[in-house]
Amino acid sequence: MNVLVVGSGGREHALAWKISQSSRVKDVFVAPGNAGTALDAVNVDLDPDDYSAMVRYAKANAVGLTIVGPEVPLADGIVDIFKDEGLKIFGPAKPAAQLEASKVFCKEILNAGNVPTADYWEFHDADAAIEMIHDRYPGESPNTACPMVVKADGLAAGKGVTVCSKKHEVLEAVELIARDKVFGDAGTKFIIEEKLEGQEASILAITDGQTIIPLPACQDHKPAYDGDTGPNTGGMGAYCPAPLVTEDDMSWVAENVLVPTVHALKANRTPFQGVLYAGLMKGPQGIKVLEYNVRFGDPECQPLLMRLRSDLVDVLEAVADQDLARIDPLQWDPRPTCCVVMASQGYPGSYEKGRVISGLDDAANVENVKVFHAGTTVGKSGAIINNGGRVLGVTAIGEDLKTAQVSAYQAAKLIEWRGSWYRTDIANKAL
Ligand code: AMP
Ligand code: GLY
Repeated sequence: MNVLVVGSGGREHALAWKISQSSRVKDVFVAPGNAGTALDAVNVDLDPDDYSAMVRYAKANAVGLTIVGPEVPLADGIVDIFKDEGLKIFGPAKPAAQLEASKVFCKEILNAGNVPTADYWEFHDADAAIEMIHDRYPGESPNTACPMVVKADGLAAGKGVTVCSKKHEVLEAVELIARDKVFGDAGTKFIIEEKLEGQEASILAITDGQTIIPLPACQDHKPAYDGDTGPNTGGMGAYCPAPLVTEDDMSWVAENVLVPTVHALKANRTPFQGVLYAGLMKGPQGIKVLEYNVRFGDPECQPLLMRLRSDLVDVLEAVADQDLARIDPLQWDPRPTCCVVMASQGYPGSYEKGRVISGLDDAANVENVKVFHAGTTVGKSGAIINNGGRVLGVTAIGEDLKTAQVSAYQAAKLIEWRGSWYRTDIANKAL
């Protein structure tokens, strides 16, 4: 059959690369894709917001299964649109995608399922939030300790969360969301929650709403610079598995996080099918859920799929058929993987596009390395140029995590464009 992957990032390149290895698949189309997906699959130049055009393309090109990478089309209801047209698609329907698209909905589901998460307060205007902060933290000084996190309710391209330690930071974040409306409608509601301490891990699970298959734990690196400093990004690198999450933790998370969440979603009449991505904090308070995403993580997807030996298409199709129970236990390469994200100068702020990337062929020749493309395109001269903030995910597999890390950095050093940079400490936490 033919498969359509929706999206254009590193995650979608990894999905297209893995799906194209399936013996059951003829053509893999990526809409709209990037310069890397053009090498491993066929790019289709469709407007990312035009879901009707995607439906027409899928019908005209015998697409037997569509996989949606990013959250925005899921929150818009692309899955519902495809299903209404009788097309098979992997991902949650619009009501279930609210789990990522609304922090308030997510908290309500977590509480309904009794899933451990930070205590929170919901607000619709700045005054009530400011009053609550002054009540709980009466200190006059703007520097009064105030370990709280302010979150815009809706999707804000990863920028809607402000982690605060001091009172003035909380008050400023509230002003930005509720008075300055910097996130527009995404900030019509917002929550303030207690700040949790510890280390983060991502546990992704594939579910058809009945059967749940947890995938090995990964760890992302969200802050821009070494030592977890600098502004928050979409993720500067990831590795898999994450030793922070023990086998006991995995069982605990399955029992106390994944199962009750899937049940709570079903009881709420918003049954979930797709990838349930739990962002977790492990600390003195145990393991708590920070957030849910309703899709593969980016960059977590890259190191995860590099380790997967089973046919991904079988798994994704079984979810679309609501028959995940038919799938044999997934086979994983025991070797760890490490993905280093290379970014454009200025990211996560503004950056220039169109700079020619050199060294891609040399990097591709490094043993046990795959360079996944994210923000790349082919320029007028035919050269591959940067076209986004996160540009490449240089991913390696190795006998141990250190070897994988060394290979990933060896390949990353061979690649360059004007202003290119990357963190130099991806996976150090586990070494
Ligand atoms: P979210 O989109 O809710 O995952 O938030 C993005 C990032 O903010 C997370 O990956 C954490 O690094 C941080 N964060 C979110 N909630 C909390 C919290 N309650 N305590 C500490 N850090 C948090
Ligand atoms: N790596 C974080 C995310 O995909 O949201």
